[in-house]
Amino acid sequence: MSAKTILITGGAGFIGSHVVREFVLKYPEYHILNLDALTYAGNLSNLTDIEDKDNYEFIKGDIVDLNFINELFIKHEITDVIHLAAESHVDRSILNPLAFIHTNVVGTSNLLHAAKSNWSNTSEHKFYHVSTDEVYGSLSETGYFLETTPYDPRSPYSASKASSDMIVRSFAHTFNLPIVISNCSNNYGPNQFPEKLIPLFISNIIDQKPLPVYGKGENVRDWLYVVDHAKAIDLIFHEGQPGETYNIGGENEWSNIDLIKLLCQKMDTKLGRNKGDSESLITFVKDRAGHDFRYAIDCSKLKKNLDWAPIETFETGIEKTIDWYLGNQQWIEHVKSGAYQEYYSQQYSNR
Ligand code: NAD
Ligand code: TYD
Repeated sequence: MSAKTILITGGAGFIGSHVVREFVLKYPEYHILNLDALTYAGNLSNLTDIEDKDNYEFIKGDIVDLNFINELFIKHEITDVIHLAAESHVDRSILNPLAFIHTNVVGTSNLLHAAKSNWSNTSEHKFYHVSTDEVYGSLSETGYFLETTPYDPRSPYSASKASSDMIVRSFAHTFNLPIVISNCSNNYGPNQFPEKLIPLFISNIIDQKPLPVYGKGENVRDWLYVVDHAKAIDLIFHEGQPGETYNIGGENEWSNIDLIKLLCQKMDTKLGRNKGDSESLITFVKDRAGHDFRYAIDCSKLKKNLDWAPIETFETGIEKTIDWYLGNQQWIEHVKSGAYQEYYSQQYSNR
C-alpha cells in the first residue's frame, strides 16, 4: 500500500483533467487531490466519469493564496505535486499580462515554498512542473527545440512560464527539492476551451461563424493529442530523473492554414455540408502581436531514456477530437456562457 497523496493543480482544466483521469484510474492506491480555482478555463464537468472514485477528491482553491496552500499541505500530508494550474492562453496574456504573472509565477512559487517547508526528507517526494515549449522562443523554417536550447520567451504567457521554470530549478539547486520539468508542444483533444485554435475553429464551423486566421496563416505548430501528453506525464512522474527536464512533442508540424483547411474538409463531411462550405468561412485578420513563427520539439531524450512514444497519429487524434466536440455541443455551449462573449468580442471585433 503506497501512502502517496498527490496534489494535481489545474485538474479541472484541459490537460489537467486528462492527467487526473489517468492517475485516478491507473493508480487506485494513490490519493489524488485535484486543486483548481475554477477560473473560466476550469470545468468540473470534464471529470464527471471519475468524480465518485474513492481515491479522488476535489478542492476549490487558488494557488496564489500562500496560507491556504500551506494549510493544504499540512492538512492532507501531500507527498507529491503535479503542477498544471496556470493561465494558459497567449492572446489573453496580451490583454492582461499581470494575471499571468500572478498565477504562473507567484502561484508556482507558493507551491514550491509549501513543498520546501513541509517535506523534511525530500528524497521521498516529487515536485513535477508542467511547462511549455514556448519558453524556448520561436524557430525559423528549420531546427528544433532541445532541452538545452536557451530560453527566449517572447509573450507574457511564455515569459511567465519561463520564469516559473527557472524558479522551480532554483529550488532544486538551492534546497535540494526533487523536481522534474516537462516542456510540451501544442496539445489538442477533448475538453480544450474554445479559445485555442482547434476547438475555436470547430465551434465556429458548427455555428457557421468566421474563422479568424492570424496574419497569413503560415505560422507552424507541433501538435500532440492530449491523452498522449497525460501518459507522458505519468511516465516522467514515475521514471524521470530528479532535476531533469524532458521535452514532449508530437513530431507533427502543421502550418495553421493547412491545419485549418484539413479541419474544414473533415467538418464538411461530418456535418453533411457541401465541399468548400467551411473553407468559405476563413477570414484573414490582423496578426497576433509578437506572433511566434514556429515551434518544433525534439523529444528524442524522452523516447530514448524513458521509451516513450505517442499512441495516436494525427489522423486518429483529430478524428477523435472532432467527434468529441460534435457529440458534446452542450459542453461547448456551457463553457461559452458567462464571460466568453465579452472576451470574444474584445479579441476579434477590432481585427
Ligand atoms: P487550461 O487553461 O485549460 O487549464 C488551467 C486550469 O488551471 C483551469 O482549470 C483553471 O481553473 C486552473 N487555474 C488557473 N488559475 C488558477 C489558480 N490561480 N489557482 C488554481 N487553479 C487555477 O490550461 P491547459 O491547456 O490545460 O494547460 C495546463 C498546463 O499545461 C499549463 O501549465 C500550461 O502552461 C501547460 N501546457 C499547455 C499546453 C497546451 O497546448 N494547452 C502545452 C504545453 C504545456
Ligand atoms: P493557440 O491555439 O492559441 O496556441 P499557441 O499560440 O499557444 O501556439 O494558437 C495556435 C496557432 O493558431 C497560433 O499560431 C495562433 C493561431 N491562431 C489563429 O490564427 N487564429 C485564432 O483565432 C487563434 C486562437 C489562434
